[in-house]
Amino acid sequence: MSDPLPQQTNEANASVREQRWPWWPLLPLYPYGQRATHVEELIPGQVWSFEQLQGVYYVAVPIRLTVVKVPGGLMLVNPLPPTAELVAGLRALEAEHGPVLSIVLPTASGLEHKLPLGPLARKFPKAEVWVCPGQWSFPVQLPLSWLGVPAGRTKVLLTDGVPHPEICQWISLGPLDLGVGRFQEISCLHQPSGALLITDALVGIHSTPPAIFDRDPTPLLFHARDRGDQPLTDSPEARRRGWARLVLFASYLRPHCLRVPPIAELLRHAFRPGLRSWKAHFGLYPFDWQDGWRDDAAALMGDEAAKVQVAPVLERLVLPRAQQAINVWLQQLESRSDLRWLIPAHYSAPLSFSAQQASALRLELQRKNWAPNEGNWTFLSGIDQRLLELGFVPENPIKKD
Ligand SMILES: [Fe+2]
Repeated sequence: MSDPLPQQTNEANASVREQRWPWWPLLPLYPYGQRATHVEELIPGQVWSFEQLQGVYYVAVPIRLTVVKVPGGLMLVNPLPPTAELVAGLRALEAEHGPVLSIVLPTASGLEHKLPLGPLARKFPKAEVWVCPGQWSFPVQLPLSWLGVPAGRTKVLLTDGVPHPEICQWISLGPLDLGVGRFQEISCLHQPSGALLITDALVGIHSTPPAIFDRDPTPLLFHARDRGDQPLTDSPEARRRGWARLVLFASYLRPHCLRVPPIAELLRHAFRPGLRSWKAHFGLYPFDWQDGWRDDAAALMGDEAAKVQVAPVLERLVLPRAQQAINVWLQQLESRSDLRWLIPAHYSAPLSFSAQQASALRLELQRKNWAPNEGNWTFLSGIDQRLLELGFVPENPIKKD
């Protein structure tokens, strides 16, 4: 039986070499050693998005490097692996707007943003490198120099100043003591565009799958099925169904409506003719979606516009006892009349986001039941409770200097 997926084009085959990312074993996430990059101009002449996919077991969500115009050149925020394809896109922007002057890692924790910093910095040897204070990694403390970050041209945000202060306002979320390290994110309000560049603090999720899946919809089609012996059939409906399930996975890790079938049931459907390929994971699909998953997914996504929210993983695992940190940060945004857009490092961008919307979101978050334990939140809550019991995370995160 032939491969049920659309054939890759010659162009796609030619670009395989340019999507290579040899450092993938450092953080072994899908799509491993091959990463396509989707480039989009978000705000004409001011802000561009470079997106790749990242995840495990085909649970892949977009991760973004944001490029902004600054006086005399460009600034890169939230590093991504510098595949040949990504670097070529950046060189094209440099030819038009001037050189990359600065590269910013605005988060203290997120490994997925931290690991590509060294390799990206080496592609731009004249750029200044800026990092959020309190860099850490868990379970092993890796000094930034071990990750290839050039110490001689690296500065710490706020401590050593800030890049491009003439057009950028830098606003801190945190710091908070997480026990195993620090949570802090330094957001950048880029005044010429009115865009607030953030990392993980907020996300906006749309019910339409992101355009990067047009390059290879396999992760969507893989999860659009109900059983492992069904073929990976492509249609707009299948892509939306797969996307909704990916969003549930990425949000709750183990969503409430997911049943993991017994091994005998799994094997009964696996290894059938036509499924004996890596792409179909040999017919293994260890998930059984129960009634209610559609409503759960719909609650996380917007149809007209992307739904802006604190990602459940951040709420329940990072900030369960620190809602106040988000409140204080949003309050600072409420006085920014020049705020127009939000550009996070994951999911949709740009998101419409004014000072009034920041205020409305703060009130909405204060009214909601923050970091609950029930339903979809059970799995995340269990992890947090276990970390608390083991003393890895504190009952009350203490503010650090
Ligand atoms: Fe992230």
